[in-house]
Amino acid sequence: MISEIIRKQISRKFTGLPELKFENVVPDVETVHKNLQELNTIGLYLHIPFCHQICPYCPYNKEIFSDDAAQQYTHAVIQEVQKYSALMAGKKISSFYIGGGTPTTMLGKGLEQMLEAVYRHFNMECAIHIESHPNHLSDENLNALKALGVNYLSVGVEALQDRHLKVLERPYTSAGVKKIIERAAGKNFECLNIDYIFDLPGQTCDEVEEAVHEMIRLGIHQAATYPLFHFPYTRFGKDTTLHRNAVATMFRRRKFLKIIEGIFYSSGFERSSVWAFTQKGTEKYCSVTVPSYLGIGASGGSYLRDIFYVNTFNVAAYVKAAKNGRLPVALSIGLSEKAQMAGWLYWRIYETKFRKSDFSDRFGLSFDKEYGAFMKMLDFMGFLDDNNSIVRLTDKGTYWIHAFEDFFSIDYINKLWGTSRENSWPEEVIL
Ligand SMILES: C[S@@+](CC[C@H](N)C(=O)[O-])C[C@H]1O[C@@H](n2cnc3c(N)ncnc32)[C@H](O)[C@@H]1O
Ligand code: SF4
Repeated sequence: MISEIIRKQISRKFTGLPELKFENVVPDVETVHKNLQELNTIGLYLHIPFCHQICPYCPYNKEIFSDDAAQQYTHAVIQEVQKYSALMAGKKISSFYIGGGTPTTMLGKGLEQMLEAVYRHFNMECAIHIESHPNHLSDENLNALKALGVNYLSVGVEALQDRHLKVLERPYTSAGVKKIIERAAGKNFECLNIDYIFDLPGQTCDEVEEAVHEMIRLGIHQAATYPLFHFPYTRFGKDTTLHRNAVATMFRRRKFLKIIEGIFYSSGFERSSVWAFTQKGTEKYCSVTVPSYLGIGASGGSYLRDIFYVNTFNVAAYVKAAKNGRLPVALSIGLSEKAQMAGWLYWRIYETKFRKSDFSDRFGLSFDKEYGAFMKMLDFMGFLDDNNSIVRLTDKGTYWIHAFEDFFSIDYINKLWGTSRENSWPEEVIL
């Protein structure tokens, strides 16, 4: 297919690798230890693979919650944390993100014990950022989250009109979810983020406009606004009636994004990533875009200098690996310097602004020498502002990153996650 060839050409040009080949190889402990120690900063990701429902559009690794699975998972996570404890050797962790699935399914069901192990074994010098489902945010649970030290909370609201909530099969009404957000907003989190999906079937501009005004009125600090992505292995991805003309989709998304940007910018919010708008003066709800991270739990991914690896997606296989005393790594890939630089640039662009000196600090090379000509071209096209020290993505550039995501990342995620869902220990995955 033509799109496959283009993807391969772009990947080759930026990474210098003929293909990105993930293999069923567990990185050796000495390399992991050495890479961890060489890093200046590192983030921690903990994956909670449980939900009380399976949404028809969702690509993430999850299964239906059960008390028994949660209990076994808790033990396995604690074992994985213990395994890394010696390798970390007191290394400072500067960000902590708990994602899923739905992490709040495990409130009172093992989450506390996992956090206790993380804080006992790692040198945590950071706040906790956690995802949640609206139906879990009773007054009692919000207080429990605060008592655990959570100050950055994200809620998967997804839509604020009943007809769209119904299409997405979300188990609440717009009136109900608004009350929940107001309740959460009253708890004074440092940053309350809501996730919102746009470009839903038949959605109008007026509906998007009304929803964004409503979010701001409800007192949120940040909104992550995603267009509805179609991952081929999800129920929506398989439903051909939902597949739409790619060009028409691009134009429609652009129209919705313009509305969303306009309202947030005129309401004291600024863009804090390709997707997110954060109230000025608020520290953003963190994302997974930190330059290096250690991932714990089923499907947790770790990026440590020249190695990237992913744990098995299957909860039972993950638990079994922990019982056998082995690292639950299913796939890994060694990265050339050029591939690391390309990955660095991709994620920094995703964050919409970065300092060129951060590149030199990380790679010991001049950013302008490596990417100067490419940046000049993007600057000329109006996609970014490249001044002497800082590069900033423009709104036009952001829009094209959205389109690029649809073309590139969705395909990669589909291959890597799709295969890992089917097979607990795949032989290899080639991107
Ligand atoms: C792990 S979920 C959030 C927490 C919780 N599980 C929930 O659903 O409320 C992460 C977010 O990814 C976004 N998401 C999931 N599938 C998506 C898709 N197909 N297209 C766009 N956004 C999607 C949703 O906004 C969702 O809130
Ligand atoms: S959207 Fe959230 S609740 Fe729904 S399946 Fe995905 S992770 Fe679970």
